[in-house]
Amino acid sequence: MWTKDSLCELVREKLGDYKFIAVSNREPYVHTYSGHQVICRRPPSGLTAALDPVMQACGGIWIAHGSGDADRRTVDRNNKVSVPPEKPSYSLKRIWLNKEEEDGYYNGFSNKALWPLCHIVYTRPAFDEPDWNTYKKVNNIFAESVLEEVGTGKAFVFVQDYHLALLPKLLKEANSNIITAHFWHIPWPNEEAFRICPWQNEILEGLLSNDVMGFHIRYHCNNFMETVGQALEARVDYERYEVSYGGKRTAVRPFPISVDFEELDREAQGAEVTAEVDRLKNCLGLDDEVIGMGIDRFDYTKGIPDRFKAIDGFLAKYPEYQGKVIFIQAGVASRVLIQEYQSLNKEIDSLVEKINWKYAKGRWKPIICLRENLPQVSLMALRRMADFCVVSSLHDGMNLVAKEYVASRFDEGGVLILSPFTGASRELTEALLVNPYATDQFAEAIKKAIEMPEAEKQKRMKKMREVVRENNIYKWAADIISELLKFEVGV
Ligand code: F6P
Repeated sequence: MWTKDSLCELVREKLGDYKFIAVSNREPYVHTYSGHQVICRRPPSGLTAALDPVMQACGGIWIAHGSGDADRRTVDRNNKVSVPPEKPSYSLKRIWLNKEEEDGYYNGFSNKALWPLCHIVYTRPAFDEPDWNTYKKVNNIFAESVLEEVGTGKAFVFVQDYHLALLPKLLKEANSNIITAHFWHIPWPNEEAFRICPWQNEILEGLLSNDVMGFHIRYHCNNFMETVGQALEARVDYERYEVSYGGKRTAVRPFPISVDFEELDREAQGAEVTAEVDRLKNCLGLDDEVIGMGIDRFDYTKGIPDRFKAIDGFLAKYPEYQGKVIFIQAGVASRVLIQEYQSLNKEIDSLVEKINWKYAKGRWKPIICLRENLPQVSLMALRRMADFCVVSSLHDGMNLVAKEYVASRFDEGGVLILSPFTGASRELTEALLVNPYATDQFAEAIKKAIEMPEAEKQKRMKKMREVVRENNIYKWAADIISELLKFEVGV
């Protein structure tokens, strides 16, 4: 089984001559002002939650966009700050973007074009040429920052996600000693869906400059290879899962991302969490109700309205549960400058209001919405309190909320209701899998979760915990690095 220590050893032994640099848009620690004080918080992001323990194990530099209003105040003159604040183990190097750059690259091309293009949730992507030009410009800014660290030396650059599709090509053109692995954290759609992107060839050429290109599941690898085969004069080899383009080979592989199982399991058992469970119950006025729970970034891919509709359907069909079940939805608004996200937030608020009005009796109401960036200890308390956890994504690369819930249930209790349209559903087959579009079936799944005998709950949770324990985040990183070593460095 891979651990923090064995990953650390792999990196030291095999990549000793290489600088280790991770690059992503989102930074793992954000400094913001709270009055006159500067506070450091972790953003609500699966990517950063997963990569942070890897960086803590490997050391090195993580380059990301400095998005906090106090970020500039906390870096040194090389734009670096050591993190995590409580136990510094790697360097976070921030790059700065002005408002126009951030808007065109992040809100624009990344989240109005690529995000809806890759998630099949029937939100139309908007392809805007000025946004695309800004995206190219910002990928260049990231490249300059990486090259400033590497010079002409050797480096392993681990590129994250859809914000940086052009970065690998820029790096390789500047320094052939750089080896790159790129992990795409979101789905890759089929070639027919992807080809509507007017700049698909530039994006594919950027990604095919990588030595290793990773997705969560094989299905996304296949979609990517088909897209390449249709769009470019490339040799697509399904035997070896490789693409050759312009004399360069790229290995295309599935690497299901995960969580630090041991750490979550340990944290969940802490006395602090027990105290937080009591505090939350008291604060929210909970007695002995059955508790359902969801934790999400408020995104239209997560199926949040769909789960509320299922709760409505469940309470209408089984009125005996009115007054006895409470669903806690935790999470924060995200990408709020984009119109689709504004509409989603309105829809969520009005659904919660409508359902609560419909069923409320005295102090009891069925849905509690906690719209806050809750601290880790509260999120952990919610996982421990929840008799069932709902992950109802309409489309999701992996979904780490599901794995976090499983890793936190050291008591082997709780039921996971999981959408089959998540990458996680391929591994967590003991969850109650339900199509979030099918409201009646979803309502039945909620009933089944509540009424499931303890022995069955335990059997299912135990199996899921074995899967997550073995396929932890250190295995994810070690598999990517091992593939890179095999494929490119030839060790
Ligand atoms: O996992 C997909 C992803 O876009 C990550 O890249 C990102 O960190 C996370 O979702 C949260 O989104 P954002 O960084 O746009 O807040």
